[in-house]
Amino acid sequence: MIISCLQTHPAKGETEPNLDRVEEAALTADADLVVLPELFASGYFFDSTEQAAALAEPVPDGPTTQRLHQWAAATGATFVAGLPERDGDAFYNAAVVVTPNGWLGTYRKAHLFYEENDHFAAGADGFQVWTVTDRRRRSYRLGVMVCFDWFFPESARTLALNGADVIAHPSNLVLPHCPSAMPVRALENGVFTATANRVGTESNGTEELTFIGRSVICSPSAEVLASAPEAEEAVIRAEIDPHAARDTALNPYNDRHGDRRPELYAR
Ligand code: ACM
Repeated sequence: MIISCLQTHPAKGETEPNLDRVEEAALTADADLVVLPELFASGYFFDSTEQAAALAEPVPDGPTTQRLHQWAAATGATFVAGLPERDGDAFYNAAVVVTPNGWLGTYRKAHLFYEENDHFAAGADGFQVWTVTDRRRRSYRLGVMVCFDWFFPESARTLALNGADVIAHPSNLVLPHCPSAMPVRALENGVFTATANRVGTESNGTEELTFIGRSVICSPSAEVLASAPEAEEAVIRAEIDPHAARDTALNPYNDRHGDRRPELYAR
């Protein structure tokens, strides 16, 4: 199957124009799994909690999930993409999984970064894995984490222990470390990872954040299968066999999952 990450440059607060701008790349990605950045249509560095709330959308009825469904139905791909979710009075930094059949599930970011803590509640549903199919109807197990979750190795570990073959990782990275860390996350957990980051600079009115690009797709052998530049929009893609992630053995003596000693680890 083919994984593609779309590295984009949204304009904050312009959800519909941002969806329109990404549409051609989404429809021509020619991939089984397409990963878009965190908050890819709303923008990220909100001026206020009121602005974040005004941009938040219900799932699956909001415009972003609906547009993702149109793209999935038109292409046969599964899409994973970040959006600000409104659920009643609660707001989450979320990522949705959308297949040609429609919305499949939502992950609510567990580890909030910087001012996200002012605007969103931390997700408390854990690290979920969904069974999805590629365009040839071969099934595989897809886990989702969002941006700063990478910094906590337990996120990817839990997804791997929950059976993920592939981790989709919508991101708005600002610290420089993640692109070089992801091959290790993939290696230690025996999974494929697909980090879709954004580029550009946003201001919240008093401060600026610059996003570091460098989207990256990694294999369970720590190979960088595809990577994007630092400052430009880009589409990257890699062909993988997701079931290769199911062989977690390193050699006849060592197994990435079986050799764990949880009784020795701190909680
Ligand atoms: C981040 O979690 N957006 C850095």
